[in-house]
Order: sequence, then C-alpha cells, then structure tokens
Amino acid sequence: MARQKIQAPKGVSEYVPPRSKLFEFVREALIAPARLAGYQLMELPVFEDTELFTRGVGESTDVVSKEMYTFTDRGDRSITLRPEGTAGAMRAVIEHGLDRGQLPVKIWYSGAYFRAERPQAGRYRQFYQVGIEAIGLDDPAIDAEVIAIADAGFKAIGLKKFRLELTSLGDSASRAAHRIDLLTYIATLDLDDATRARAVINPLRLFDDKREEMKVVMAKAPLLMDYLSEASTTHFESVKSYLDALGIEYQLNPRMVRGLDYYTGTTFEFVHEMLGAQSGIGGGGRYDGLMSELGGQELSGIGFGLGVDRALLAAEAEGVIAADGFVSDLFIIPLGDNAMIKTLEIATALRKGGKIVEIAFGDRALKGAMKAADKSGARYVVVLGEDEISSQNVEVKNMNSGVSISVRIDSLINAL
Ligand code: HAM
Repeated sequence: MARQKIQAPKGVSEYVPPRSKLFEFVREALIAPARLAGYQLMELPVFEDTELFTRGVGESTDVVSKEMYTFTDRGDRSITLRPEGTAGAMRAVIEHGLDRGQLPVKIWYSGAYFRAERPQAGRYRQFYQVGIEAIGLDDPAIDAEVIAIADAGFKAIGLKKFRLELTSLGDSASRAAHRIDLLTYIATLDLDDATRARAVINPLRLFDDKREEMKVVMAKAPLLMDYLSEASTTHFESVKSYLDALGIEYQLNPRMVRGLDYYTGTTFEFVHEMLGAQSGIGGGGRYDGLMSELGGQELSGIGFGLGVDRALLAAEAEGVIAADGFVSDLFIIPLGDNAMIKTLEIATALRKGGKIVEIAFGDRALKGAMKAADKSGARYVVVLGEDEISSQNVEVKNMNSGVSISVRIDSLINAL
C-alpha cells in the first residue's frame, strides 16, 4: 500500500518550476539596485537568541508577542526563527566590529523569515525578504537613497500601481513630548487590560488597532507629526526635498504604524493597490536606539525590507510578468556511448561560454529523445552520432522555424 503523502507545513510560501523562475527574477531585480549603490552581502543565521528580538523588535509588537517561532534547543537555550532581518544584521555588525570601520556600514541580505501569522493570500508563515541597512550616519540624503533603492527595485520589476507612504516618528525629544499628550488622551478612553498594557509599552501601537471603535477614538488622538522637534523637522524636510529632486513621489501618512518598535525619524511603506488586505510590499525606516539597545554604540541606521512574495503577486496582478516556461539554448541527443562522452565534452565547453545546454539522458530511442527536446523548450537541437563525430559536423535544428543548418562542432557556440 502506498504510504501517505507528506505536505508542506501550513502557510509557507514555496516556489517550484515554472513559477520559481519569476520568483528568482523578482528577487534579483530587488537586489540589483542595492548592489549598484555599493551595499555588500550579509549572510546570517535563520535562528538567533530569542532575546535579540524581544529587546530589538519590542515586546509590544504582534511580531514578538504572538508570532515568533520560539523553541528551546538541546542546550536549553531559547531560540527563535528570525521574524525579520534588522535585529540580526545589527547584532552581526556589533559582533564583528563593523561599526568601528568605515561608516556607514552598508549591507544587503535576502532570505526566509518566519512569523506565525494567520495564513492568507500574501501572508505566509515562512516568507522571503530582500533588505538593506545603512548603519552609522544620520544624513538625510541616506534616507532618500535608501528609499530610492527600494523604489528602483519595484520599478525594475515593472510595477506601476504602488505608492510610497512617508512619515517621521521624530527623535526622542519629539516622541517624549507626544507621548505625554497621547497617554493623557489614552487615559480618557475605556480600554481593556491588554490594550492598556500595550499602550504603556508603546502608545503609538494603538493607532494600528484594527477594531472599528478603536479607529474612531484614535482618529482624535494627538499626532506625533505635530510634535516634531526642530532637529527632526529639519531632517524630515531635507529627506522630502531629496525625494522631490529624485522625482520620487510620496504621500504623507502621519498615522502610519510599523509592526516593529525600533523606528524613529524617517519611516516609510510601499503599498500596492491590487493586493487587498496584504498590500504592504515593503517598508522601513530609521532606528536611532537599536544599536545601543543591543549593546553597541549610539549609532543611527536606516534600512528596508521588501516582500519578495508580495512583489511577485503584485507583478502577476499587474500582468507585467508571466511564466513563459523554461528556455534553454541547446538540447543535445547523443546516440550511443561514444557519442555521450563527446556530448558531455561539448556541453561543458558551451556552458563555459554561458550557454544553457541540456542533454538527453537515459537509453531513449531517437523519437522519445526528440519529444523530450521539444518539451524542454530548447531553442536548438543537435543529434550526435558516429557520423557527426567523424565528420566533426552537426545539423543544428532551429526548433522555432524547423530549419536545420550544418555547423562544425568547434564553432557550435556561434550558431546558438
Ligand atoms: P516589515 O514591514 O515587517 O519590515 O516587513 C517587510 C516586508 O516583508 C513587508 O512590507 C511585506 O512585504 C513582507 N512581509 C512581512 N510579513 C510577511 C508575511 N507574513 N508574509 C509575506 N510577506 C510578509 C521588516 O521586516 C523590517 N526589518 C524592515 C526594515 C529593515 N526596517 C529597517 N530596516
């Protein structure tokens, strides 16, 4: 009796051919602008000490309080699968002393992240992000560059129906002044214990409460934007003027609440129009206190995380990419053992020249091999037998037109 099949755990995103090709395209398009701006790769563990996230991301957040995949390892340590990339990047910068060298430290990363959310379209328990962080300088021009890099990535995919929402969460003086008035306002509200506890850790979180009655009362709450210190206002004005100069459009959203607690100053989100409830395709901002919170120096940083899964869904919704199937340059069909040796040699040489070359393996008759060649989506097909080996000439068949031309084996690369 056949054994029962095993399925992927609930809510994970995974990509298999042919759609994986689109995923790869989107991920590479999102990374490319960061590479061009001199950001360097950081490859980090997918699990970290739990404390990194409780301290770094903040206990008032859903991410930390409800969504972490946390377990005790065999050495009795509390370990968590990374729900986001910034805390780990900062941990690594401090641990490797990168902040003692040239500033800003500019790094990019890409990989899987884990949040135990309720799965739905565009919201997964394992999902993929591309991110960058620029650590060590508080220059508003970096904020504009970071935002421009994200914008360039989305545009390189061909996305048009997205907008950039922008706000400033100010410096500590701005937030302290706002917090007093916000807590005074919140004290007048009739709240349940959990919400009140959340407000004590981070009162801004109440702006993100999805309950209708909360939305109504929070609409009248004082906004941080009206409490920005002079330094924060000047910084934010500069960021906006750089974005204007770059022709990057934005909408101010003074009610934006990010799902992570470390943000200060410039904060932003990219929102796509066609994705329904899970419309955030990327987001980020500054984080003044994160490095010192994690035991490092008092240095600021800014970065973003872009959702590769959602960017792909957005590209499909806009119809800007489609799975056109796999295309290879050449499919070689060897006839016999001797021909297989020669075929392996030819394929190796052509691949060195950057060509995608496939081989018909297995003891298939010519007819079956031709069918496989057809299905493979190869642009050209060559059949290699004893005659071809002795004449050093092969017939290169163009699978599109059906036309064959005779080509010397050693100049095959020019025919493809
Ligand atoms: P985030 O907004 O939590 O920020 O996540 C960034 C992006 O990851 C989101 O805009 C979304 O596209 C995608 N994403 C988040 N959760 C899910 C999910 N469950 N399923 C699918 N996609 C998801 C951060 O993670 C920050 N570390 C970004 C950052 C870097 N801020 C400063 N530096």
